Amino acid sequence: MRIGILGTGNMADALGTQWVRAGHQVLFGGRSPDRTRALAARAGGGAGSLQEAAAFGPATLLALPHAAVPGILASLGAAEGALRGRLLIDCTNAVGPGFVLTTEGGPGAARSIADATGARVIKAFNHLPDAVWRLTPPAFADGPVAVPLCGDDEEALETVAALVRDLGCAPLTAGGLDRAAYLETTTAFLIGLWHSGIDPRRLLPPFAAATA
Ligand SMILES: NC(=O)c1ccc[n+]([C@@H]2O[C@H](COP(=O)([O-])OP(=O)(O)OC[C@H]3O[C@@H](n4cnc5c(N)ncnc54)[C@H](OP(=O)(O)O)[C@@H]3O)[C@@H](O)[C@H]2O)c1
Repeated sequence: MRIGILGTGNMADALGTQWVRAGHQVLFGGRSPDRTRALAARAGGGAGSLQEAAAFGPATLLALPHAAVPGILASLGAAEGALRGRLLIDCTNAVGPGFVLTTEGGPGAARSIADATGARVIKAFNHLPDAVWRLTPPAFADGPVAVPLCGDDEEALETVAALVRDLGCAPLTAGGLDRAAYLETTTAFLIGLWHSGIDPRRLLPPFAAATA
């Protein structure tokens, strides 16, 4: 599949490299041609502008800071409908200082992207650090990492589920786009625990105990 990636940082690198390895055609789009070319050379994909990556294929990953997203979507013609109906994968976390969600009190990140674009947005890959996505495969003693997907479009969910499997992970349908805000909040909570040196796995009982 042709996958456009907006951004040339850690998440673009981690996921783009994996998808190139899995045989996909990836076009990285960044604002710095030098950084974009360097990543493309390292990962084995192509290099282009943000505009070119957004138009490249049936799936586009937004690997950008949340604060930069509205401006970039506007520059891509979101208000004029340029992204309407497209499959956008949103891995962003709107986490500010103190591990507080900057979206608090308003729509979540994924919802805002959907509202601004009319795109078929799937929330995915935001809940774990890039170091995990770089593992080949991202799996631990209890099996492949489960990747929660939130979105409203069945075909888009299936496409992203296949991209999850290509990493060696297990897709987990986690509800509609309205659930994405819960995933974003949970991730902010997890990040706070990890940064405090607390292993969130300690919070969770075995499945059978929780469901008895
Ligand atoms: N890193 C993680 O472990 C992780 C895990 C899960 C989710 N996330 C989320 O994924 C997203 C990307 O994270 P990341 O770690 O990949 O970030 P990053 O390494 O800082 O990369 C961000 C990318 O966005 C570009 N960018 C920033 N502002 C821009 C603007 N105004 N216009 C155009 N491009 C702009 C940067 O370009 P320049 O290089 O030119 O500055 C860079 O290519 C974030 O929302 C983050 O919360 C990160």
